[in-house]
Amino acid sequence: PSDTGRVLSIQSHTVQGYVGNKSAVFPLQLLGYDVDPINSVQFSNHTGYPTFKGQVLNGQQLCDLIEGLEANDLLFYTHVLTGYIGSVSFLDTILEVINKLRAVNPNLTYVCDPVMGDEGKLYVPEELVHVYREKVVPLASMLTPNQFEAEKLTGLRINSEEDGREACAILHAAGPSKVVITSITIGGILLLIGSHQKEKGLKPEQFKILIHKIPAYFTGTGDLMTALLLGWSNKYPDNLDKAAELAVSTLQALLRRTLDDYKRAGYDPTSSSLEIRLIQSQEEIRNPNVELKAERY
Ligand code: ATP
Ligand code: PLP
Ligand code: MG
Ligand code: NA
Ligand code: MG
Repeated sequence: PSDTGRVLSIQSHTVQGYVGNKSAVFPLQLLGYDVDPINSVQFSNHTGYPTFKGQVLNGQQLCDLIEGLEANDLLFYTHVLTGYIGSVSFLDTILEVINKLRAVNPNLTYVCDPVMGDEGKLYVPEELVHVYREKVVPLASMLTPNQFEAEKLTGLRINSEEDGREACAILHAAGPSKVVITSITIGGILLLIGSHQKEKGLKPEQFKILIHKIPAYFTGTGDLMTALLLGWSNKYPDNLDKAAELAVSTLQALLRRTLDDYKRAGYDPTSSSLEIRLIQSQEEIRNPNVELKAERY
């Protein structure tokens, strides 16, 4: 294990604001990683605003970029990170990219945030669920679904911590040795459940972190969370609980700052167009102060 790496991050780009690559690249760089972003879309702003404009990269255009790298022998990566993907053809191309990069580096870590929806609602085409389930999950090293996505990927209904742990076990059997359900609400309480299967067939080590829910809706936090989990779990490969504590602690500090700033400026913190205070939180990204502790099951 090494405390750094070279990450290919295939995610959205927004001109203004912080989602996708805009919310993942800067923190990974701050943690010492070389990050090579491929922008799967370029939009004016995130889709929580009343309107947005921009371009979508297609599978062939992604192939072109990879071919350019390949022609110059530039396909060595330690990590691939993917987030929101809007079409089956783009997702299929990503699978080809992963296989190509694994041929160059068999130790490639693929961190997949299977972004499909939230709070009971799917926001990608239904046919993507099947592709994630059958083809993407088996290739992933670490998976970071939310509660809804974990349900879609396993067919389980998650109503308890037990169900969440069971969902993680099912996902391990399908491929990834690390699974983090990044947000799950049980009895009004927000928590994260992490699971590390250190060897195939072994019982996974599981933990939870209770998260103080901040009364506002944020965008870009899922993307930031997965980037931080990649960054910290590579530095602490045998301590997923520690990696998750560090990531959650950064999120808490950053969201508190974001809320305070908006309130001070007289904005409504429940508006769906809040932008996280990412750049202002660089100290909390580099050096999170761990207040929320993981509890082992
Ligand atoms: P995905 O990107 O797969 O949809 P997700 O739904 O888990 O993942 P978020 O809901 O943005 O993404 O949550 C990610 C993390 O952001 C949580 O683990 C938590 O640390 C933090 N977070 C997001 N919203 C809040 C909130 N209102 N209060 C406290 N923490 C929050
Ligand atoms: N990518 C784009 C272009 C978006 O508009 C959004 C949300 O609006 C996201 C990604 C998702 O952000 P997150 O799940 O991190 O909140
Ligand atoms: Mg969510
Ligand atoms: Na997630
Ligand atoms: Mg999300």
